[in-house]
Amino acid sequence: MAHAIQRILLICCLGGILLGQSCQKNTVQPPGQARGATLQSAAPYPFGAALDPGLLQNHAAYRRVAATEFSSLTPENVMKMRTIHPAATLFNWAPADLLVDFARQTNKRVHGHALLWHESVPDWVKNFAGDSAAWEELLQTHIRTVVEHYRGRVRAWDVVNEAFTDGGTLRPSIWLKHLGPDYVARCFQYAHAADPDALLFYNDYGHEYSPRKRRAIEQLVINLKQRNIPLHGLGLQMHLNRRSDTTGIATALREMAATGLSIHVSELDISMNPQNDPALQNLTPALAQEQAQKYRYVVRAYRALPKNQQYGITIWNVGDGDSWIRSYYRRRDWPLPFDDNYEKKPAYQAILSALQ
Ligand code: G3I
Repeated sequence: MAHAIQRILLICCLGGILLGQSCQKNTVQPPGQARGATLQSAAPYPFGAALDPGLLQNHAAYRRVAATEFSSLTPENVMKMRTIHPAATLFNWAPADLLVDFARQTNKRVHGHALLWHESVPDWVKNFAGDSAAWEELLQTHIRTVVEHYRGRVRAWDVVNEAFTDGGTLRPSIWLKHLGPDYVARCFQYAHAADPDALLFYNDYGHEYSPRKRRAIEQLVINLKQRNIPLHGLGLQMHLNRRSDTTGIATALREMAATGLSIHVSELDISMNPQNDPALQNLTPALAQEQAQKYRYVVRAYRALPKNQQYGITIWNVGDGDSWIRSYYRRRDWPLPFDDNYEKKPAYQAILSALQ
C-alpha cells in the first residue's frame, strides 16, 4: 500500500514537472495570497528572469521554477556578441535557441539581450582592422543577422546596453571610437529594419543614483523621436543593494516614464552584502526581512506607472547561487528572491503580495 502511494506521488510529481508545475508540499499561504499563486499569475504585467540555458537543460529545480514563476525570459549571456557571434563569419545559435525553444514550449515572452554592449566583445572584433565603412558593415551585419534569426520569436531587444557613463557622457568604448557618437541611433535603425515588429529598448544601470545619466537618456529619447528613429522602451537595470535610496528608485521610474516609453525594470536584484562584510556568513532572518521590504518597495513603485507603460519586471538570475554578484565581486551575497536551493525567500513572498 505504502509503495503504491509512493509511486502515485512520484508519477504526479514527474507529471507536474513536465507541465511546469511545482511538486513541493502544500504550504500554508500567507494571509492575502491566493492559493497556488505564482509571480507570473499574480503580476498584471509580464514578470521575468534572466536565464542560463545550461541550467535550464541540466537542473530540474531551476527548470521548474523558470516554467512556473516567470512569463518573460531574458537570456543572461547567450545572446551577447561574444557568445552568439564568436568569429566574423560564425554565429553560434544553439544556446540561445535552446532558451527561445523553452519559451515557446512554455508560452513565454523572450526579451533579447543585448545587441550592442561595450562588454562581451569577442576578440575578433577587438582585433578588427578596417576603415569606418568596414566597422559600419560589421555593426550592421551583426545586428541584422541576429535580429532576423529571431524575427517573430523575440518580442523585444535591448538594442544598446550601457552607452552612457554615470556622468551622462557617451562611454568611451570600442564602438564610440570606431563608429562615432551617432552609433546608438544607427543600431536602432538596423534593428528596426531587421524586424519592424520588434520592440526596441535602450538599457542601462544607475538611473536611481545618477540624475546626469537620466538627463542623457532623456536627451537620447528626444533626439531619436525628432529623427523618427524607433525607440519603444527604456530598461532600468536596478542592480540595487540594501543601501540603495528608495526615493531615488521612485524618482528614476517616474522620470523615465515621463518620456512616454515602455518601462522595463530589466535586471532587478538586491545585494545584501555590498561592503563584503567578512562577518556576514549567511543571510540572517533580519536581513532577509530587510531585503523583502526593498523588493516590495520596488514592485509598489513600479505599480504607480501608467499601465500601458508597464512592460514588466525581470529579476537578474533566479536563485542566489546563480547570481553574477558572487562571481563578479567574489563575495558572499544573497541578492535574489530564491535561495541556493530555489526555495522561496521572504523576498519572494513580499513580491507576490505586492503584486496581488
Ligand atoms: O562562458 C565562459 C566559460 O566558458 C568559462 O569557462 C568561464 C570562466 O570564467 O567564463 C564563462 O563566461 C562567463 C559568463 O558570465 C558566463 O558565465 C564570463 O567570464 C563572465 O564575465 C560572464 O559574466 C556575465 C557578465 O554580464 C558579463 O557578460 C554575467 O554572467 C552576467 O550576469 C552579466 O550581466 C550583466 C548584463 O548583461 C548587463 N548589465 C549588468 C549585468 C551584470 O554585470
